[in-house]
Parts: sequence; structure tokens; C-alpha cells
Amino acid sequence: MAGFSFALSFCSIFLFAITEASRCSIIGLPLVRNISELPQDNYGRGGLSHITVAGSLLHGLKEVEVWLQTFSPGSHTPIHRHSCEEVFVVLKGTGTLYFAPSSHEKYPGTPKEFPIYSNSTFLIPVNDAHQVGNTNEHEDLQMLVIISRPPAKVFIYDDWFMPHTAARLKFPYYWDEQCFEAPPVKDEL
Ligand SMILES: *[C@@H]1O[C@H](CO)[C@@H](O)[C@H](O)[C@H]1NC(C)=O
Ligand SMILES: *[C@@H]1O[C@H](CO)[C@@H](O)[C@H](O)[C@H]1NC(C)=O
Repeated sequence: MAGFSFALSFCSIFLFAITEASRCSIIGLPLVRNISELPQDNYGRGGLSHITVAGSLLHGLKEVEVWLQTFSPGSHTPIHRHSCEEVFVVLKGTGTLYFAPSSHEKYPGTPKEFPIYSNSTFLIPVNDAHQVGNTNEHEDLQMLVIISRPPAKVFIYDDWFMPHTAARLKFPYYWDEQCFEAPPVKDEL
């Protein structure tokens, strides 16, 4: 009986390892992939659909990462900054970019607001605090997002007057958690 349950749990660990490996590796994936068939999730953020189109942890990219993100009406990113450049291409919908390029100050401060719209593009320099949201009541906002230096190290603010030094680091970021290999933990037994 003990042998049977050992074999069973060994087997499920083995299966788990296979599933994890195929989800976090490009091995076995076709070269040309249908975006509609890539894994998408909201990663716990209401109104978000995130797809890592081409990723660092997922696909082994060293210099850039590409996301396809869709925000339902009223949804938005947190106020945040990161240690990478970021380029947005708006594919569908309208929204608002809140931008506070004041990393030399103690806190972001009141952001400037910019309307964003289908076929518009904008870039966020390294470490500038920003927030992007769908401020349209009726239509989804869909954007292609390209970041440099993946995987992203994201610092999150509660509000625009939180000191830069108090912003919380979220690393690995939500969509990188599954494929992030933490350094091996020492076996305490
Ligand atoms: C891509 O995937 C979608 C959803 O499964 C499907 O409807 C579409 O036909 C696919 N496109 C091609 C060219 O296979
Ligand atoms: C986006 O802009 C390009 C360049 O002007 C144009 O060719 C394209 O048709 C535009 N697409 C949409 C959806 O407006």
C-alpha cells in the first residue's frame, strides 16, 4: 500500500514537472504561433487580459519582451515604474496615460494626463512613474507592449505622493512567477 501511494505521488510529481517544463520553455512550440491560442490570464487583476507574446522566462529572450494586453472599461495598471524602457502601441480603444517623469524628485507628484487612442504609440523611459488605464466606458483598450531588459522589475506606488524609496518591488512580476526559477532552497532536513 505504501509502495503504491509512493509510486502514485512520484508519478504525479513527474507529470507536474512535464507540464511545468512545457509551459516555461520554447522546446516543442511551433516557430509561428497563433496569438489567439497562447495562454492568457488576468493574474488576479480585474479587467485585465495579459498574454506574453514573446518572453524572457517563457521563451528565452535576453533583450526584449512583448505582451498583448487588453483592459476592460475602467481597468488600469497600478501606478508604477520599472528598470526598463517600455513602448506601447495602441491597437484598439481609447484610454489615458498618467505620466510623472520626476524620478529626480522624492515622489512622482501629480501626473500629466495624455489621451491615448487606436493607432497611437508612446514610450516610457526607465524609472518614470506612470499608469495606463481604459477610461472609455464602452470599449476595451488593447495594446501591444514591448519592454527592454526582461524580466521586468516593477516598483509599485499606492499613490502619486508615495516616496520613490517606499515603492514596493514586485519581482518576479505576476506573469513571470510561474516560470521564475528561484535559487534552490537549502534542505533543512
Ligand atoms: C488562430 O486561433 C483562432 C482561435 O483558436 C482561430 O479561430 C483561428 O482560425 C486561428 N488562425 C489560424 C490562421 O489558424
Ligand atoms: C495606423 O496608421 C498607419 C500609418 O498611417 C495606417 O497605415 C493604418 O491604416 C492605421 N491603422 C488604423 C487601424 O487606423
